Amino acid sequence: MTTHGLAEKITQKTAVIGVIGLGYVGLPLIRAFTRAGFKTMGFDVDQTKVDKLKAGQSYIKHIDSAAIQKLVNEKQFEPTTEMSRLKEADCIIICVPTPLNESRDPDLSYIVGTTESIAKSLRKGQLVVLESTTHPTTTRENVLPLLDGTGLTAGVDYFLAFSPEREDPGNPNFEASNIPKLVGGHDSVSADLACSMYGHAIVKVVKVSSMEIAEAAKILENTYRAVNIAMVNELKMLYDKMGIDVWEVIDAAKTKPFGFQAFYPGPGLGGHCIPIDPFYLTWLARKWGEQTRFIELAGEINTHMPNYVISQLAEFLNEAGKPIKGSKICILGAAYKKDVDDPRESPSFELMKLLLKRGANLSYNDPHVPSLPKMRHYPDLPAMNSQELNPAFLASQDVVLISTDHSAYDYDTIVKHSRLVIDTRNATKNVKSGREKIRKA
Ligand SMILES: NC(=O)c1ccc[n+]([C@@H]2O[C@H](COP(=O)([O-])OP(=O)(O)OC[C@H]3O[C@@H](n4cnc5c(N)ncnc54)[C@H](O)[C@@H]3O)[C@@H](O)[C@H]2O)c1
Repeated sequence: MTTHGLAEKITQKTAVIGVIGLGYVGLPLIRAFTRAGFKTMGFDVDQTKVDKLKAGQSYIKHIDSAAIQKLVNEKQFEPTTEMSRLKEADCIIICVPTPLNESRDPDLSYIVGTTESIAKSLRKGQLVVLESTTHPTTTRENVLPLLDGTGLTAGVDYFLAFSPEREDPGNPNFEASNIPKLVGGHDSVSADLACSMYGHAIVKVVKVSSMEIAEAAKILENTYRAVNIAMVNELKMLYDKMGIDVWEVIDAAKTKPFGFQAFYPGPGLGGHCIPIDPFYLTWLARKWGEQTRFIELAGEINTHMPNYVISQLAEFLNEAGKPIKGSKICILGAAYKKDVDDPRESPSFELMKLLLKRGANLSYNDPHVPSLPKMRHYPDLPAMNSQELNPAFLASQDVVLISTDHSAYDYDTIVKHSRLVIDTRNATKNVKSGREKIRKA
């Protein structure tokens, strides 16, 4: 079986790697392939991002601008908005968004749009890999027909695989290159080519028997997190009532060396993946006449958490003889998790909405999010800039509400100067003095 020279190009690292979608997933992938010695091209519809990259500027906190500058200068990385140049890439990796639409059904329009762009210039000897998280059968049912529609045949003329991204932004221990990669091919030649390509850049490549296995495995990973987080969130509400500290309970349970993995409660789920991806499977299950009850229940509990936090906050303020209305409340953290600058699906926005609805005098601080971006689901949130945290400001607030436990915060100082700190993340666990001012929620 010929690969039209692609196998040799990958082995010799002369294959050009094209990545479509230069976001939190695509950009780290570019870095991994350039480090492995490949020339890369980056495709994005967002002209601003491409211009920044061309000027050697990164817009993702954990990707260093100097590194981007060097790659661009040395022509190891060429960012572009010209999709017609996809024909120049030998391997094309799709990392575009997979959100939910207004009725919480999968929005595959980015994948479809991108595949249509690839189809316009698809040529023999190209490998196309979908990395965007999606439900099983997407690659076969939504990507394959568009590419085969060109008259070329998958596994013969061009090659097709699915390989889920497992990026964990903000995790100092893991980046694209040291997270094992699953690969499921349309056919065995496609699978081998994709494995060979990733094998140069990623520490370990695991070949599975089909694209559907790889797609389903990714959703399993995310569903596992969503369900377990919902479970500890539910336990938190019970244990709170009973005066039992759920974080101490989890720390105790995790001393068991087998059969238990710790998950932690919080103000709600955030990020592009965990609150969204499992619902791709729910949608698919409906088509098959099945239900995904764990996913639905987890979604219900996790979505309720911001309401729970606000009801607790109201209680704590009440004890101080104050209503939410008119109280000065500062939310710490707009990003969805610690040490990242990504606000997507962050529960902080729901907290802000709920507090504003109740008439709070609201502000926020986030060292990684200098001003609140416009959020699709929160069109009514006013424009706000991150408020500088200083002793006088902290002392002026009725409540400081920790929504994201960024490492950059000095929690001792925050507690010292605040009147009431509501901690949804156990971020203040090591604070020694002023603990009487801390309430967990
Ligand atoms: N962020 C994560 O931690 C993470 C982890 C694992 C998997 N994923 C999955 O990876 C995929 C991408 O996520 P992300 O976080 O990188 O998203 P992102 O929004 O950060 O980046 C996507 C990029 O794609 C670009 N884009 C949109 N439509 C395009 C098109 N038609 N052609 C070219 N570019 C286009 C956007 O401008 C954007 O720059 C999603 O399916 C997501 O679920 C994300």
